[in-house]
Amino acid sequence: MQSLEKQLNEKITKAFAAAGIPADHAAVKMSDRSELADYQCNGAMAAAKAMHMAPRDIAANAAASFDGGDLCENLEIAGPGFINIKIKPAALAAMTTQMLSDDRQGVEEIQTPKKIIVDYGGPNVAKPLHVGHLRAAIIGEAVKRMLRFAGHEVVGDIHMGDWGYQMGLIIASMEEESPEYPYFSDQKNMPENPPFTLSDLERIYPEASARAKQDEPFRERALEATHQLQSGRPGYRALWRHIMELSVADLKRNYANLNVHFDWWKGESDVQDLIAPMAADLKEKGFAYVDDGALIVDVAEPEDKKEVPPCMILKSDGSALYATTDLATLLDREKSFQPDQVIYVVDKRQGMHFTQVFRCAKKTGIVPQETELDFLGFGTMNGEDGQPYKTREGGVMRLADLIAQINDYMYEKVIENNTVTEDEARSTAQVIALAALKYGDLSNQASKDYIFSIERFASFDGNTGPYLLYTIVRIKSILEKYAVGCGPEMNTPAQTNMPESESERALMLELVRFPDVITDSCVALAPHRICAYLYALAGKFNAFYRDVKILSEPDDQKKSGYIALLKLTQKVMERGIDLLGFEAPDRM
Ligand code: ARG
Repeated sequence: MQSLEKQLNEKITKAFAAAGIPADHAAVKMSDRSELADYQCNGAMAAAKAMHMAPRDIAANAAASFDGGDLCENLEIAGPGFINIKIKPAALAAMTTQMLSDDRQGVEEIQTPKKIIVDYGGPNVAKPLHVGHLRAAIIGEAVKRMLRFAGHEVVGDIHMGDWGYQMGLIIASMEEESPEYPYFSDQKNMPENPPFTLSDLERIYPEASARAKQDEPFRERALEATHQLQSGRPGYRALWRHIMELSVADLKRNYANLNVHFDWWKGESDVQDLIAPMAADLKEKGFAYVDDGALIVDVAEPEDKKEVPPCMILKSDGSALYATTDLATLLDREKSFQPDQVIYVVDKRQGMHFTQVFRCAKKTGIVPQETELDFLGFGTMNGEDGQPYKTREGGVMRLADLIAQINDYMYEKVIENNTVTEDEARSTAQVIALAALKYGDLSNQASKDYIFSIERFASFDGNTGPYLLYTIVRIKSILEKYAVGCGPEMNTPAQTNMPESESERALMLELVRFPDVITDSCVALAPHRICAYLYALAGKFNAFYRDVKILSEPDDQKKSGYIALLKLTQKVMERGIDLLGFEAPDRM
């Protein structure tokens, strides 16, 4: 099924062409004044200059050539030359009925699917996840789901920081604490299972990290350990593998709690072998040169308003840098997957890094010219004081603690309103809490900072995740009552009514926008547009629910049409929140 906006644009384009109006002005948008029109076209005003004609006359000509077919009423001209479009009630019934029977709710699969990698998450192994990792996970997961649903071939890659100094810190610290571990004597036989636990790691890392800041000899041992790990010392590699096993299992648990799932669990370590040949190649081809001991590639461009420093490939001591690993990763991805597009969901403060990496990758042919490299930089999650979110003591807030806090808060709310078992209340609270957290984040444009507030995010009304869930639960409960009250043959209404009331019409109009909203948010990589849509849809549904007696409607035919409309609303809402990465409970 072709989306409403596409159909309208086609019709208005035809009318413009027939009336001799330049077609580049033939586009519709949702009307700002819903009492006058559903959609509007302002092209007559835009065309007036070029045509040396009064916009109202242009609009009248367009209207005269317009064929609304079964879709829309005759056009009306308003004001200086606005073209107002109203959708026919029968068309709304037909479209919503068709959406209900479609398991994609009317969203067409993309004609030219791309191979896309979403690089998100980016945790550093052995360091606990903190709130700074939250946005990457939430936004990346949503973008991945949206693009996949649109029909692209999408891979989510976690791109762990698993090869750096933090590993050296742990190794150096353990070597001192437990010199008897076989890793350090470089025996042939390494233990099968690690002799230490995750909680050991969780204790060791912060201690070591703090100590290295004051204890220079220790810092040097950690750097040396990092270096030896990277040059392949067998005992250290064995230890590294064990640290990875424990940490990755823990990361998987943590991300699964957020309903975040990666297809590739790759990391910086996976591309280390590509670095030396890549650097040699860049040098040989003349892209990279030695400057002050370091190997660099110039990436500045004449139009740059802000200075873009050269991309550093190797430091003067020969070690690789952050950019080096990202370039080698692109090389690796090119070999294994040939993506058409790579999207990095990373803190926007890393913008310059990605400008350098992208330019370098294009300039040197690490990726083909036509590969799209996109940086989806996100802003900071702040506390109520407007500063980056901290614990009450002012420290870095661990992600697990933040989630536990919201879960507890929600649990109190759930038991307040319900007579349910402790277990059910816990699991329901978790589902709602995740919606609160994710929607609170995603409903803001990604690039903006936002203020995190449990009370606001967890509220059951207003522009929140729980409000959306509440609306879905309300629909589910009406559908359940309906199913109980009628025989099984009546339980599958497939046809919506011609809208009668204003609120029924408004709900239908909102529903038929869904395919356009999805297309739009995928092109703009903008989950917040899906949020805004779902919030509007929930509002339209709740208005309809207020105005129309659904279950007590005496006319069976009509009632069944209402039920069909409810089912579609539920499907669209559930699809929407699934794309955002959360789900609704059965009750709340
Ligand atoms: N580990 C990095 C950090 O904590 C984020 C990685 C982002 N992704 C990337 N391809 N560079 O800052």
